[in-house]
Amino acid sequence: MMLDEARNRMLMEVGPKKPMGKLLRRYWMPISAVSEFDKKATKPIRLLGEDLVLYKDLSGTFGLIDRNCQHRRADLSYGFVEKCGLRCNYHGWLYDKDGSCIAQPYEDTVSTKSDKKNLVTIKAYPVETKAGLLWAYLGPDPAPLVPTWEPFTFNNGFVQIVFSVVPCNWFQCQENSLDPVHFEWMHANWTMRLKGIEGPYSPAHLKVDFQEFDYGFRYLRLREDTDENNPLWTIGRCCLWPNCLFTGDHFEWRVPIDDENTLSVGWFFNRVPQGREPYIQDSIPSWTSPLTDPETGRWIDTHVMNQDFIAWVGQGTFADRTKETLGKSDKGIAMLRKQFFDDMELIDNNKTDPKGVVRDPDINECIQLPIMNRKRFLEGLTPEEMADPNDIHGRSTKRFVFLAGQPQEVWETYCEAMRFEK
Ligand code: FES
Ligand SMILES: [Fe+2]
Repeated sequence: MMLDEARNRMLMEVGPKKPMGKLLRRYWMPISAVSEFDKKATKPIRLLGEDLVLYKDLSGTFGLIDRNCQHRRADLSYGFVEKCGLRCNYHGWLYDKDGSCIAQPYEDTVSTKSDKKNLVTIKAYPVETKAGLLWAYLGPDPAPLVPTWEPFTFNNGFVQIVFSVVPCNWFQCQENSLDPVHFEWMHANWTMRLKGIEGPYSPAHLKVDFQEFDYGFRYLRLREDTDENNPLWTIGRCCLWPNCLFTGDHFEWRVPIDDENTLSVGWFFNRVPQGREPYIQDSIPSWTSPLTDPETGRWIDTHVMNQDFIAWVGQGTFADRTKETLGKSDKGIAMLRKQFFDDMELIDNNKTDPKGVVRDPDINECIQLPIMNRKRFLEGLTPEEMADPNDIHGRSTKRFVFLAGQPQEVWETYCEAMRFEK
């Protein structure tokens, strides 16, 4: 499917009046980590092109409201929280999580019969917590449920949340979620070359396939070194709707900040080894990964997701899909685009939910996903598997491979959970 410029823009523009903006507003978006609010009470948020402030008030309630005060437009991210709500630091107007202005100090004093405060409201969106993340919903009522993906219910794990602000449009980031052949080149072979090794290259892909399921598309891979009984082919990984990659042990959401920037939100689960149970994590740490090397000014290329970022930003702020040449490996990309076009039309024409929206609380107890090696996440690795340098999960216990810049204290807490040499 060749895209003209107008349809290319349709995939990328996320403002509230744009077709894709309306579609994405039908889903909950992860925007922050709960643990960030151990140290602060407010955080400025730009989401889908809207400037907002996320806060946690003194009774522990989260709210997400317009960044600018309804009085004279001061920046509410510098406001201070009260027992109920967020107060503007300029003249003290106070807002609750539903957007009602519940105090206007001077107006309240001089106007005994004032009902003005009852008339003032500010834009406000619902916020929920799940899996250590804070989720926002910017769409029409009634809001659906925040999905309880199966790994959110796993026990005995060490979870960490990693953010990165990637300076390009979100859609090219999400296309990467249904692009299996890039693993061979961008991660395996390029990493080898970056280390100065010239070969042999990693096993080549012989066949890829894509299958739709309720919550996205799975991609299946057959490589030179695998057969059709291998979980890479029988289970695969998935592009989770609408803006996530799920690999089995981690999620990567591509959350549009605006048309030109994307917040990458990674959620990583590591099961503690057998014999270390029960492991209870008190608080899920979060950190932000740097994108560039301060010495060279170039993009960091040493970690898996940083490599992906290089591909995404390399396509330009907005990928020009009118100039691309798709091949057979891009069947998944074409399926993904078609689904979004279909859903944009669907929500424009009627009130049916688009793909992957969850409303049934029974289903949402735990939504099972395709997971290679599920047993390992449930039961943990043996000490031998943990020590095996060729074991992908054992190997990840030697360093955090996905993103650069992991803080030392997070690494140390992780090592303590896994109990191996730091
Ligand atoms: S600008 Fe916020 S209270 Fe005046
Ligand atoms: Fe990748």
